[in-house]
Amino acid sequence: MSDIKTLGEFIVDNQHDFPHASGELSSLLGSIKLAAKIVNREINKAGLVDITGAAGVENIQGEVQQKLDVYANNKFKAALAARDQVCGVASEEEDDLVAFTNENNLNAKYVVLMDPLDGSSNIDVNVSVGTIFSIYRRVSPVGTPATKADFLQPGNRQVAAGYIIYGSSTMLVYSTGNGVHGFTYDPSLGVFCLSHESLQIPTDGKIYSINEGNYIRFPNGVKKYIKYCQENVPEDNRPYTSRYIGSLVSDFHRNLLKGGIYLYPSTASHPQGKLRLLYECNPMAFLIEQAGGKASDGRRRILDIEPTELHQRVPFFVGSSEMVDKVEAFLEQYPDRV
Ligand code: AHG
Ligand code: MN
Ligand code: MN
Repeated sequence: MSDIKTLGEFIVDNQHDFPHASGELSSLLGSIKLAAKIVNREINKAGLVDITGAAGVENIQGEVQQKLDVYANNKFKAALAARDQVCGVASEEEDDLVAFTNENNLNAKYVVLMDPLDGSSNIDVNVSVGTIFSIYRRVSPVGTPATKADFLQPGNRQVAAGYIIYGSSTMLVYSTGNGVHGFTYDPSLGVFCLSHESLQIPTDGKIYSINEGNYIRFPNGVKKYIKYCQENVPEDNRPYTSRYIGSLVSDFHRNLLKGGIYLYPSTASHPQGKLRLLYECNPMAFLIEQAGGKASDGRRRILDIEPTELHQRVPFFVGSSEMVDKVEAFLEQYPDRV
C-alpha cells in the first residue's frame, strides 16, 4: 500500500519545483484532476446514456460539436472557476476567451487553455479520446479581468501542460517543467496513481502517424518523408510501422512511450494545418521537449511561435527528435508545395 503515490501526493511533494511556489498551481492541478474524473465517468458510460452524438451546433471553427465536447468543456470550466487560482480560460469550444469575474478569480494569477475533448469524433465508436491543457501566468494586472494578451503568449512561457487520455485505462500525464510524469486512474479507489515517472521518448523510433488519406494534398517534403518511412532498409529498421488513431492525444501518447513521430502538415484544404497552436500543439510541444523529444512546424520550434489568434492553426510535427529532424530536412530539401 505504501508503494502507491497518488497524483495529489506527488504534486505536494514536488511543489518546491514550481517557480513562485505557493500552492496555487497545486490547487489548480487539483481542479483539473477533479474535472478529469467527472468526464472520465461520463465517457465510460457514453454508450449507455444519451450523451454520444452531435449536439446540433457548430463551434467557431465550423466543426460539429459533440455532446461530450460541450459536457467536457462545461465541467473543466466549472472546476477551474470554482477554485481561486484561475482568472480565465480559452477553449476549443468557446468562441472567445472566458474571463471569470468574481473577486477571487480576478485576483488569480493563472490562465488555462484547453481542448476539453480531443478526438471527439471517435467517441461514438469507443475509441480513446483525451483532454489537453496548458497553463500560463497572466501578464495583465492581478485584480482585473483576464485579457487576450494573457492567452496569446508563446508556448515557451507555459508553466505547466498536460493531457488526460481516456483509454483502456485512463491516465493523466503532465509536466511543470521538471520532467513528464504519468498517473494511471484506479477507478476502485478514485485516485490517479503514479505509474510513469520521468518519461523520456526514445531519440529515434519506427512509428509514423499521419492521415495518409490526405497524401495527395501534402507538401512535397512530407510526401518524400512518407516514402522514406516506407523504404525497405532493414539495417535502418525501415519500413517503419504506420499507426494513426485520429486522436492526437492517443497517437502522441503511444509515440511518447514507444518512440515515433506524429505529423499533421499543411494540406491543400488546410494551408495552416488542422491542429490549434494554443491548446493542442503548444502543450504537446512542452511535454515532448520535457521528455527529450522535439516539436516543429517544419521549420520553427513550436514553442517559439508568437501567437496572434486564440484558434490559430499550425502545421505540427512532434515526437522523437531524430525523426522530427529528418522531416525538417526533407521539407528544406523539397520546399515546393506539390
Ligand atoms: P478535436 O476532436 O479536438 O477537434 O481534434 C481532432 C484532431 C486530432 O485529435 C486528430 O489528430 C486530428 O484531428 C485528426 O484529423 P483527421 O481526421 O483530419 O486526420
Ligand atoms: Mn483536438
Ligand atoms: Mn476537441
